[in-house]
Amino acid sequence: MAKQKNTNDTMEKLVSLCKRRGYVFPSSEIYGGLISCWDYGPMGAELKRNLKNFWWNEMTNRRDDIEGLDAAILMHPQVWHTSGHVELFNDPMVDCKKCKARFRADKLEESRCPEKPSKSPIEHGCDLTEAKNFNLMFKTHMGPIESDDNVIYMRPETAQGIYVNFLNVKNSSRQKIPFGIAQIGKAFRNEITPGNFIFRTREFEQMEMQFFIHPTEDDQWFEYWREQRWEFYKKLGINMEKLRWHEHGEGELAHYAKAAYDIEYEYPFGWQELEGVHNRTDFDLSRHMEATRKNMEYKDERYEEKFVPYIIETSAGCDRTLLTLLVDAYDEVEIKGETRVFLRLSPKVAPIKAAILPLVKKDGMPEYAEKVLAEVKKHHKVFYDVSGAVGRRYARMDEAGCPFCITIDGQTLEDDTMTVRDRDTMEQKRMKTAEIIDFLDVQVNG
Ligand code: GAP
Repeated sequence: MAKQKNTNDTMEKLVSLCKRRGYVFPSSEIYGGLISCWDYGPMGAELKRNLKNFWWNEMTNRRDDIEGLDAAILMHPQVWHTSGHVELFNDPMVDCKKCKARFRADKLEESRCPEKPSKSPIEHGCDLTEAKNFNLMFKTHMGPIESDDNVIYMRPETAQGIYVNFLNVKNSSRQKIPFGIAQIGKAFRNEITPGNFIFRTREFEQMEMQFFIHPTEDDQWFEYWREQRWEFYKKLGINMEKLRWHEHGEGELAHYAKAAYDIEYEYPFGWQELEGVHNRTDFDLSRHMEATRKNMEYKDERYEEKFVPYIIETSAGCDRTLLTLLVDAYDEVEIKGETRVFLRLSPKVAPIKAAILPLVKKDGMPEYAEKVLAEVKKHHKVFYDVSGAVGRRYARMDEAGCPFCITIDGQTLEDDTMTVRDRDTMEQKRMKTAEIIDFLDVQVNG
């Protein structure tokens, strides 16, 4: 079965599938929606949880040198002055004097003029102002009084929660350098031009890991983490031909980075960043040390001199990885003159691992299927469906991203075996309940 080539309307089809099958809904939809905000439905919430678990397992549970953390979103406002975000976390912005729209000056080709959404502001001949800096942090107030004295920020990255806890984690876990701290959590950016569904939003989740090292070892750890993160996407089942590296040039580097590489994916709207791997040097810890006078220097018996650790950061967007999984899995196949949609999600992350389908609604098959359901659901998320012709039920599950269908038929009642149909190969094998549980274990957990 040939994979369909991504075309411009793939995104429209995907957005519609996500709504239809309960993956992603527009936020506050009954009020007309809220631009760039999305809600994850039953299937989306499960997919996101599976993705986060996969990342967490790879980055913490399967390693001895990385600890987990879950820091607060709201932090002391001074953190963001110290980190440089208040001063430097800006995007250049331009206004159109004619249509009054606001665009990111460095993303004009990707932007759309609201007067002519098929064209970019340049193509439409917008009358643009000089670029001005626009700070991306959302501000709010802590407590009942709204004044400049109690401004706080919604964190624009989870990383700072890790840096301010460096000493706490090091001391409580007794980790020695080199070691890392990993965190998954929400981040907020008042993006000038959000868009492309869940690709660029103002509220999103990050999966970040900060690895603390000796300064002389930064190049080797940088290479190590680039390799690890590349392997991660291979393990996740992403089509590796659609991934590439992009090295940040001088002008592109964030204010904290000495070197940075992005892993880019080829989305239907072009090659775009999926994850960043950054050498942040001792920028963050040194700045926090200076601001708080807490000593962040490291020393153990292996080193002659104290040093402020360097940090190699791996920073992936959770929503963006989820979008990548969906785009990568979307497939259309012509079967008997009908276009059938398959969402070929890997069993590792698929929201539902198998559907349990009695062939017909009689002859004791539904009762048998319910018993199988009760057993299998102790181990895996499964779905029971008895309504409609079995072919229609298969098609529904294929489109919903379910990798296996288990069918209870006449033979089941005689020998306790059921057919297990593989969504991608269409192969069917007969298995008993215990074998099905083992089979799903291998498929889901590798
Ligand atoms: N701590 C470093 C950092 O935040 P970044 O390159 O600004 O680096 C890291 O962001 C990742 O977070 C990006 O590669 C992307 O996957 C995700 N991300 C950033 N801004 C986003 C947005 N507005 N919407 C969705 N994901 C975003």
